[in-house]
Amino acid sequence: MPEQETVAEKNFYLDRPQKNQVFPIKGCHNTDWGLKNRLSRIFHPRTGRSLMLAIDHGYFQGPTTGLERVDVTIVPLLKSADSLMLTRGILRSVIPPTYRGGIVLRASGGPSILKELSNEHLALDIEEALRLNAAAVAVQVFIGGEYETQTVNNLTRLADMACRYGVATLAVTAVGRELTRDAKYLRLACRICAELGATLVKTYYVADDFETVTASCPVPIVIAGGKKVPELDALTMAYRGLQEGAAGVDMGRNIFQAASPSAMIQALRLVVQKNFKPQQAYQFYQERLRKPRKRRSKR
Ligand code: 5RP
Repeated sequence: MPEQETVAEKNFYLDRPQKNQVFPIKGCHNTDWGLKNRLSRIFHPRTGRSLMLAIDHGYFQGPTTGLERVDVTIVPLLKSADSLMLTRGILRSVIPPTYRGGIVLRASGGPSILKELSNEHLALDIEEALRLNAAAVAVQVFIGGEYETQTVNNLTRLADMACRYGVATLAVTAVGRELTRDAKYLRLACRICAELGATLVKTYYVADDFETVTASCPVPIVIAGGKKVPELDALTMAYRGLQEGAAGVDMGRNIFQAASPSAMIQALRLVVQKNFKPQQAYQFYQERLRKPRKRRSKR
């Protein structure tokens, strides 16, 4: 029999009302605990920002430069990434299950670089995403493209499945060659994705009026990296995007194709999580490039 306890022995902290914590991720305060917990694996709870490392390129272009051997080139970078965007194939075969960041699983695919890229379909079941403990599932949306309706339909079906289990949906706004990548287009694309159920949106940074893109999108935006540019330019793009309302970056080639991917991801981290200015972060990058940190020898 448990011992009889008296109220006098207990402490109910009657003078201290229970506090409601403000959830730091934009537009997500009305969601359920599971989704908030998953979002907190993507966005650092202290800053509400994410350095997402994108390595999903293989799903349409095979062994991309820098990703030929993910075990060799990417695994050492994982400690610097808040979250990781990738396919289930690479996750299962190469990524150590001890990785603690948020997993963002590529859930659309179909055509390779040899075909019309926008003709994508859903390529993942929600049960598989749950089995792999994904924090989010990601789908490409081609607003204004030939397969606009089909890819919007991919987004809405995926968001329905993901919502059922408290998994986040990342919509990637892909801009077809025939379209102009400017703030007007990105406002349209990002807003449509958010209205139709995306929990977060990945889009490109543009130098003019980017703050109108983030302001009119009610959920967090992470900036896509795009083609490899000089390291200082990539750091500057990240810095400006964050100053203009983005909640993080989702970069691939500008990290793993840098002269030193390890120095680059650390420099980017200083911009995203520590508010370093681009020049300061670049100086850090160059120093690391000249003098890589010594690895402690194992005895
Ligand atoms: C396609 C994608 C990618 O496959 C990838 O994530 C792009 O990353 P980056 O442009 O930074 O190399 O999202 O649109």
